[in-house]
Amino acid sequence: MSFRIQPSPPARPNRCQLFGPGSRPAIFEKMAKSEADVINLDLEDSVAPDDKESARSNVIEAISDIDWGNKYLSVRINGLDTPYWYRDVVDLLENASERLDQIMIPKVGNASDIYAVDALVSAIEAAKGRNKRISLEVIIESAAGISHVEEIAAASPRLQAMSLGAADYAASMGMQTTGIGGTQENYYMLHDGKKYWGDPWHWAQAAIVAACRTHGVLPIDGPFGDFSDDEGYIAQARRSATLGMVGKWAIHPKQIALANQVFTPSEEQVKEAREILKAMAEAKARGEGATVYKGRLVDIASIKQAEVIVRQAEMIDG
Ligand code: COA
Ligand code: MG
Repeated sequence: MSFRIQPSPPARPNRCQLFGPGSRPAIFEKMAKSEADVINLDLEDSVAPDDKESARSNVIEAISDIDWGNKYLSVRINGLDTPYWYRDVVDLLENASERLDQIMIPKVGNASDIYAVDALVSAIEAAKGRNKRISLEVIIESAAGISHVEEIAAASPRLQAMSLGAADYAASMGMQTTGIGGTQENYYMLHDGKKYWGDPWHWAQAAIVAACRTHGVLPIDGPFGDFSDDEGYIAQARRSATLGMVGKWAIHPKQIALANQVFTPSEEQVKEAREILKAMAEAKARGEGATVYKGRLVDIASIKQAEVIVRQAEMIDG
């Protein structure tokens, strides 16, 4: 047990992050009107090399021209292994309006990757006299990223969120799959001739949650590629929520409602959490540290568990 108090992550809803290619400005207005908490305009892998420059200017224009309401507005830059990333940062920070909230760095491999972007962002903010401090989010999607996940989570006070990017992660790890997240046909235990499927993303997700919770960063589940499979998306999102993640990406608008449904605590959950808090307050008044709620043990740890749910619900209600 450490005497240090675990830092709280940023208090903003991040149930759904909706992505859209920077090369497809026709959908920006629809993204802005959606029910997603966070918007990610993409300059990276959904934009072809020949469109990188025009996507950059589309995005810079849209940041000021479109009414993004109260959405958290993020732009995914290109990876540090490409010739594009520095120009993404320079052009965004020099030319985008202060409506821009965040920059997302893909394929981070170690803390120095964040340091490099932070240094560039800090210098341009100072040079341009920008008032708003841009925050950062990162994607863990490589063997190096997951190996160095803890130092990455600690890399910068600007860092607010960290996602698992299943497709690039699978490729980097040499996993035998072309699926983006979800159940993998060949990942099963055999017992009495029956197959029981396991979750090949579990370890990476739990490692991300631990690193994020240690350093006050929001842990997010990344994309689910098969957007015709609602049940599969919900099953994946429920596993992520159970492990401590606070939201999930949408790569198609029909996934937004699914994410919001899973990552908004239900009325039933909130009611139960409040009842546990009440039962524990009564126990405390009697001088007891533990009591019985609906036939099961609740104790001082249950207060913290219940508070997670109540706080999440109150933050979403605004
Ligand atoms: N955000 C908001 N609206 C979107 C959208 C998005 N990401 N993707 C599609 N739409 C709109 C379409 O314009 C269409 O609107 P309409 O009914 O007014 O015509 C509607 O939603 C239905 O779209 P649909 O025809 O089913 O999809 P599509 O073929 O136009 O596009 C994708 C499918 C997957 C190519 C597209 O959703 C997309 O580019 N997703 C994001 C990809 C991305 O950013 N990847 C990087 C992160 S992994
Ligand atoms: Mg990726």
